[in-house]
Amino acid sequence: MENLTGESMNQEISELRVVRDGVDIPDIHRLHVFRAHGGYAALEKALHLPAAHIIRELTTSGLGGRGGAGFPTGRKWQTARDAPGVPVVVANGDESEPGAFKDRELMETLPHRILEGALIAAHTVGADQVILFVRGEYDRAHQRLTEAVAEASEAGIISALTNTPGDAVSVHLHRSAGAYICGEETALIEALEGNRPMPRGKPPFPAVSGYLGRPTVINNVETLAAVPAILNRGGDWYRALGAPDCPGTRVFSLSGNVRFPGNYELPTGTPLRALIEGPGGGVPGDRAIKAVIPGGTSTPLLTPDMLDAPLSPQGLATVGSALGTGSVIVYDETNCMVDLAANMSLFYRDESCGKCTPCRDGTHLMHEILSRIEAGTGDRDDLAQLERICGYVPGGSVCGLGPAAVAPVASSLRHFRGEYMDHISGGHCPVFKRYEVRGQCFPVIRSP
Ligand SMILES: Cc1cc2nc3c(=O)[nH]c(=O)nc-3n(C[C@H](O)[C@H](O)[C@H](O)COP(=O)(O)O)c2cc1C
Repeated sequence: MENLTGESMNQEISELRVVRDGVDIPDIHRLHVFRAHGGYAALEKALHLPAAHIIRELTTSGLGGRGGAGFPTGRKWQTARDAPGVPVVVANGDESEPGAFKDRELMETLPHRILEGALIAAHTVGADQVILFVRGEYDRAHQRLTEAVAEASEAGIISALTNTPGDAVSVHLHRSAGAYICGEETALIEALEGNRPMPRGKPPFPAVSGYLGRPTVINNVETLAAVPAILNRGGDWYRALGAPDCPGTRVFSLSGNVRFPGNYELPTGTPLRALIEGPGGGVPGDRAIKAVIPGGTSTPLLTPDMLDAPLSPQGLATVGSALGTGSVIVYDETNCMVDLAANMSLFYRDESCGKCTPCRDGTHLMHEILSRIEAGTGDRDDLAQLERICGYVPGGSVCGLGPAAVAPVASSLRHFRGEYMDHISGGHCPVFKRYEVRGQCFPVIRSP
């Protein structure tokens, strides 16, 4: 295989499946099949372990949140356990970031693994309630999780958990309203409480005071799906799998201009190039890569000279980006970077909840300016104005949506300023003019 500079390289890497283990097994979403492949053994083990032991194992594993922020899971569980009140566990399956589709696959194919992780969390922190929060548009995921809860309930798996005297833990699903902000943990709590989903300031953090003022463990579904393997095989085993600053594996949703888009689970620290050129099969038509988003649209763009960066928080920080949700989007040379920024700003403009003026108005203005530049009617002052907006939106937002909205715009300005200038001086898009056809390919999600 050839890399971008033409040197031959060996990119023969294969998946290391921990949370996706068994994803190809027919009917693995059914309880009897899941159990036949070792499912719920970790929960059974957990029921005989003291909470302190489980939290120690998680802390040893180094498991960090897979929802974007990477917060240490063991510490979150300990905080909820120590906080006053009966805790609640929420599995966050809202997944609405462009380019992210890993949680969808997990919920559709391995709902019992997520439920097992959530029940272990409930047992550990002493919760009396588990809420599975599912993206509104994810019909099949909702259906599969509903069936999984019914099967586990009928089999007595759920009723085996009695954290409050005489009462079994209750498990129910909540269908999200279809807004990106609902996945942000404090907006999610507002949504659960029946309010308009607008983020709350922190502290207090949800693990201390969240849903109905109770300690609330909110974990991404991939995070929870990693827990059974850690309990089965040990924290040391998991820690040894990946990069020291973010041990274990991550499921990367790979999309954009690659031959084989899809979900791939790899040890953290794997070079970005190895993912794109290995399982991803490289760019179709042997076109050159122009830019890559490494961790979802809330993370800054990278350029081809940065592709050897390891997929870990530190590795990506050294090239000015972040691991985020692990959603890797590849753009080849036929893509216009102003169009990309304009498209992303449209998403964030529509998804800003409107609570914070800098985010609400800033995302609106960014989109207006970017559309003008893209159409060839922008001027130099527009670039200065864009930079000003990128400067004030992140600090003026109560949640992470503001900084997320700025990431693709600021990074495309930083790396592709010449392309912005060409739009302004030429009065049209230089890229689409050069390539008459836009080569786009979209991810295909295979479900059994
Ligand atoms: C705008 C926004 C949207 C988010 N959407 C999601 C989401 O859909 N799923 C998710 O797990 N985390 C999402 N998060 C992160 C959550 O707030 C929270 O950090 C996460 O659910 C915690 O779980 P973890 O520690 O397992 O990652 C979002 C954050 C922001 C700022």
